Amino acid sequence: MRSLITGGAGFIGSHLVEHLLARGDSVIVLDDLSTGNIANLSAVRDDPRFELVIGTILDPAVVLDCVSRSDRVFHLAAAVGVKLIVDEPLASLRANIHGTENVLAACADTGATLLLASTSEIYGKNESDSLSEESDRILGSTLKSRWSYAAAKGIDEAFAHAYWTQFGLPVSIIRLFNTIGQRQKGRYGMVVPSLVGQALRGEPLTVFGNGKQTRCFSSVHDIVPAIVRIAESTVAYGKAYNLGGAEEISILELAELIIRTTGSTSEIELVAYENAYGSGYEDMRRRVPDNTLSHELVGFVPRIRIEAMVREVAQSLSTAVDGDDWIMSQAHPAHVPAGAVS
Ligand SMILES: NC(=O)c1ccc[n+]([C@@H]2O[C@H](COP(=O)([O-])OP(=O)(O)OC[C@H]3O[C@@H](n4cnc5c(N)ncnc54)[C@H](O)[C@@H]3O)[C@@H](O)[C@H]2O)c1
Repeated sequence: MRSLITGGAGFIGSHLVEHLLARGDSVIVLDDLSTGNIANLSAVRDDPRFELVIGTILDPAVVLDCVSRSDRVFHLAAAVGVKLIVDEPLASLRANIHGTENVLAACADTGATLLLASTSEIYGKNESDSLSEESDRILGSTLKSRWSYAAAKGIDEAFAHAYWTQFGLPVSIIRLFNTIGQRQKGRYGMVVPSLVGQALRGEPLTVFGNGKQTRCFSSVHDIVPAIVRIAESTVAYGKAYNLGGAEEISILELAELIIRTTGSTSEIELVAYENAYGSGYEDMRRRVPDNTLSHELVGFVPRIRIEAMVREVAQSLSTAVDGDDWIMSQAHPAHVPAGAVS
């Protein structure tokens, strides 16, 4: 089995690469290294069953070439992170909508099966006790860039569903809730690596708003095997599945837990949203998954506790050597030529 992973040099993608290679797959990664990093792939770089193609999903020819050499596709490439979306709304929309359609069209051309990574963000401000796949979406104004990620991922899902209903494309959708672990970076607004990094540096932990907003974090190590099992289920075609954590925690409680776990002397500083993301920024008060469908389909149960996840992130940030950061500064995505790098 040969799998293509778009976005495979990123946080979740690189864990998926290792998981699939360990199972005996051959793996192609297509990534423009915009938020991903070659260092994330250092453990697999010399594996003869692994190939890295540096290129963008916005190039239909590159996408078609990679897809045509694959039996199945895990589409994870996307502009991710609140800060990136707010700072670069146009590039984010293009990557997240046009790039995804390129991947869908290539799969329809070649017959490859597809798993599309979507997000709990699509539920927007729906704060119900438990969000199921049929729950309503409550999004803020289109004039607020913050919602463009949720809007684009919603369009991706609608595209995927249309390819399934009109062309019978075997595509399944996962909606990831906040997923954390080793290799996630804080610089694009991801809360756990941001707060852990501040704690390790002895800086104040900046918590936005009043800190009472809650999330359910899950470990990448629980999520990745479930992603593969969903991709392998023919029952999942044309459907969407939540994959989220089991413990609801406020961001203030999270910051306290991070200080305790890292033994930091840092304090917590509440920062108004507008100071971080400009005026009119909106956040959701809570986001809690109903994992019933993914549990019934593939037995998904999030097992790793938040304390262990925080320890892992702290360990990885304190030992991280971002030796490949020069690549990110020297090769802007638009200038990275497509080509295979083994
Ligand atoms: N981490 C989470 O909590 C979370 C939650 C919900 C959904 N997701 C989804 O999971 C997927 C992976 O997210 P992640 O957390 O690993 O983020 P990430 O930023 O680490 O990974 C995204 C990868 O896509 C690549 N990429 C971006 N634009 C590209 C383009 N035009 N062409 C080729 N490659 C491109 C980046 O370089 C990066 O390697 C995304 O689709 C994201 O929307 C993640």
